[in-house]
Amino acid sequence: MRIESLQTFYQREMAAILADPDLAEAHAALLLALELGSARAAQRDAGGNWYANPWVKTAILAGFRSTHTALVPGWPSPAYDRTAFPPRSFSLADGVRMVPGGSSVRRGSFLGAGVVIMPPAYVNVGAFVDEGTMVDSHALVGSCAQIGKRVHLSAAAQVGGVLEPAGAVPVVVEDDAFVGGLVGLFEGVIVRRRAVLAPGVVLSASTRIYDLVNGRELTREVPEGAVVVPGTRPASGAYAKAAGLSLAAPCIVKYRDGGTDAATTLEEALR
Ligand SMILES: CC(C)(COP(=O)(O)OP(=O)(O)OC[C@H]1O[C@@H](n2cnc3c(N)ncnc32)[C@H](O)[C@@H]1OP(=O)(O)O)[C@@H](O)C(=O)NCCC(=O)NCCS
Repeated sequence: MRIESLQTFYQREMAAILADPDLAEAHAALLLALELGSARAAQRDAGGNWYANPWVKTAILAGFRSTHTALVPGWPSPAYDRTAFPPRSFSLADGVRMVPGGSSVRRGSFLGAGVVIMPPAYVNVGAFVDEGTMVDSHALVGSCAQIGKRVHLSAAAQVGGVLEPAGAVPVVVEDDAFVGGLVGLFEGVIVRRRAVLAPGVVLSASTRIYDLVNGRELTREVPEGAVVVPGTRPASGAYAKAAGLSLAAPCIVKYRDGGTDAATTLEEALR
């Protein structure tokens, strides 16, 4: 099924699909299109704005709603999941090095050549992980998350999934960004190219990011090349003041320079 007709099918039949789906052919075409990268849950336009493709996200949801939980064949220990999204398998020709040991990549996700996945890691349906990206141990690439080229997702980085609502932009990490250990990105946050997030930075849609270089506050978006580290700010109100409380306040301490490149350079041989 060609992408245009698949898209038309889902857009036209949306209500009927969700009510009483007979999706086998369209679902198989959807998984293949996602895995080939020809259909994506979200895309960037020429102006750099990210927009969701609601038909893709609705199609994924239809898969969940139209299938039941069953034994997953071939898995080392008994596992039970929706039949719509079994684990993907790979061949040498895919150019993906998946180290054995508890990682799982769900069908309907795209992995570019040269992606490395260290166990245990999980890549969910609708995720797009572009060429040369490292997904380190305990990292999560949530449903529909869009990860660019040569990104480093350090150990335990959590990129949340944004499947519903269908029109919501998922979490995006653009090319050459460095996501430190234990970083959490949720609710459609966008990390622009070459940005660096130090270990422990957590960003959701309402987290205020303090740009110490330009004297401004930002939400939802980390600018290109920004270096963000965890910080704190006084919590507002008399009670908080009396109790000496602070809130998390991620700060942009600088924009990427040679020192940052040195601090984030990774051993090529590991790729
Ligand atoms: C974020 C990072 C890349 C910045 O490196 P850099 O560009 O060389 O930054 P600098 O060392 O010049 O630091 C700039 C400022 O940020 C502060 N800073 C740097 N890292 C920080 C952190 N993790 N938390 C709090 N503050 C931090 C520095 O103290 C300095 O502040 P100052 O100007 O007031 O002295 C680096 O500090 C870092 O955290 N590397 C970790 C890499 C990593 O996670 N590796 C895991 C691989 S699996």
